[in-house]
Amino acid sequence: MRVAVLNGVNLDELGRRDPEVYGGLSHSQLETLIYKWADELGLTAECHQTNHEGQYVDWCHEALDWARGVVVNPGAWTHYSYAIRDALELFKVPVVEVHLSNIDEREEWRRVSVISELVSKRIIGKGQDGYREALEYLKETL
Ligand code: DQA
Repeated sequence: MRVAVLNGVNLDELGRRDPEVYGGLSHSQLETLIYKWADELGLTAECHQTNHEGQYVDWCHEALDWARGVVVNPGAWTHYSYAIRDALELFKVPVVEVHLSNIDEREEWRRVSVISELVSKRIIGKGQDGYREALEYLKETL
């Protein structure tokens, strides 16, 4: 069962970027874990990260054709990108919103998620383990 894991803007800087908030893993270390967890669950994950909103939207459109479930962490786009919201709205399969940090307990502007009402599940503030929980949820749901 193939699932897409789509990480957005500035997540390529994990490891250097405020490790107390986002954890100390680099993005490639995070991806390695995601692939391992997916494998353990019998899922086939395809991870992507981009700093370009149009690319993120294109990957959403491509995933419409093959993904049985989707895990998204759009980074700061979460808080204002209606383009990504519109792209995610096209999915008929479950979409899980993950954030490493607890966006509900940070700055006011981070508490807004323009995608929250579309997703099947939100996992917030659990660091890297949030991705594992998202994959487990997809495994149970699919
Ligand atoms: C984030 C939270 C966002 O507010 C922030 O802009 C990010 C990462 C998280 O995973 O905690 O880039 O999505």
